[in-house]
Amino acid sequence: MSEKPWGGRFTEKTDPSVESFTSSIAFDKRLYIYDIEGSIAHCRMLAKQLIITEEEASQIVEGLLKIARDIERGDFELHESLEDIHMNIEAQLTTDIGAVAQKLHTARSRNDQVLLDVRMYMRDEVTNIVMALTGLRQALVELAKNHMDVIMPGYTHMQPAQPVLFSHHLMAYYEMFSRDRARFKEALSRINVMPLGSAALAGTTYPIDMKHTAELLGFPEISANSMDAVGSRDFIMEFLAAAAICMVHMSRLSEELILWSSAEFGFVEIPDAFATGSSIMPQKKNPDVPELVRGKAGRVFGSLTALLTMMKGLPLSYNRDMQEDKEPLFDTVDTLKGCLEVYEKLLPRLKVDSTAMEKGASRGFMVATDMADYLVTKGVAFRDAHRCVGEVVRHSIDEKKDLRELSLGDLKKFSQAFDEDIFELLTIEQMINRRTSLGGTAKKNVKKAIKKAEETLKLEVAEHEPDKQEKA
Ligand code: ARG
Repeated sequence: MSEKPWGGRFTEKTDPSVESFTSSIAFDKRLYIYDIEGSIAHCRMLAKQLIITEEEASQIVEGLLKIARDIERGDFELHESLEDIHMNIEAQLTTDIGAVAQKLHTARSRNDQVLLDVRMYMRDEVTNIVMALTGLRQALVELAKNHMDVIMPGYTHMQPAQPVLFSHHLMAYYEMFSRDRARFKEALSRINVMPLGSAALAGTTYPIDMKHTAELLGFPEISANSMDAVGSRDFIMEFLAAAAICMVHMSRLSEELILWSSAEFGFVEIPDAFATGSSIMPQKKNPDVPELVRGKAGRVFGSLTALLTMMKGLPLSYNRDMQEDKEPLFDTVDTLKGCLEVYEKLLPRLKVDSTAMEKGASRGFMVATDMADYLVTKGVAFRDAHRCVGEVVRHSIDEKKDLRELSLGDLKKFSQAFDEDIFELLTIEQMINRRTSLGGTAKKNVKKAIKKAEETLKLEVAEHEPDKQEKA
């Protein structure tokens, strides 16, 4: 009655509204190349195990390769009624090579097939993201290296706190994105597991060789439990969680670029090629790129939440709910790649106003901590020094003076421990360069951090070389 591959036990045609409601072809078509590669490996394994003949296998493989070419050329019609990419390809194969096509689905189910495809897709895309994170970090390090002398105010509570090197601030993001890269690599190890052969949920009675399939497809591991293999999606959740964290970092960087490029800060200027104007206010140059990156963080968090929520109540093993894993996954891959790519291009072209930054760093009593530390070196207890400098600050605010404008006489009214040498200590360069504790902003530290980063990045580039060649 029905022409569906599963139509045998049905007496009624699927309602058209159900066909479009259940169909995933609109989005899972992007898996086609993995579906075909996976099917070819499966078919070769079936022949090796004498489950189908060599002759049948060659016919099927050739048919599949032709379909890959047809799809690439845009010469392939997708049918919603065939639900998904897996059934669309199989149906076309049947049209092209006849009855022998029906043997391809021996010893597998769409449940393990879809997992194989998704894992292969993710393996490629997460590798791309890992490489993009190297690119972004290279851009950050370059920017840091080219602005070694720029001093800016460092903030806590969004209040000016202590001066820091602009490069130190940038290298903080380098660290965040380094951890992101490590998280994606870690996720990759759990993505790279071969599930085909788990079949519907319980495994199969055919004498298959999953090791062989894994070898053909370059998987270092095979799923250990068929129900887990078709019924778990934590490898996707883990990726989405890593993506969400990475987007937090992207979004914070965006927020800073937006603030810094405002008239009030004026620390940086976004290059024209990465900004947009206003249709009504001719004077405006808007930081739309950072704003959109900040905004897109929301949709990635949404994808993670969607997947966690979709999975939390599901009994083992496969449930159709799980088809809903794909759109959040695909959207996150596209979004994250887009954000990383645009920042890798934008950052090297950022115009930095070192005068505005340094002016910002000289304001707001930022020398206060160093003044207190100075008193400590003269034998004052830190708490007493803190209270004393607090009073000096209060006095300066009343007098509308900067701390550095006070004379030694003024200072001595607050503590006899102040001496002439206080003034050389309170230069902004001193405040930076004396912060030599590990990870502190002293120039020699930051230089060292940049050098180390460059070495790390060089190793990463070499590590990516084989992946890049494979893609070319
Ligand atoms: N399109 C489906 C998915 O993404 C394929 C698996 C369908 N399996 C099934 N038993 N209906 O989950």
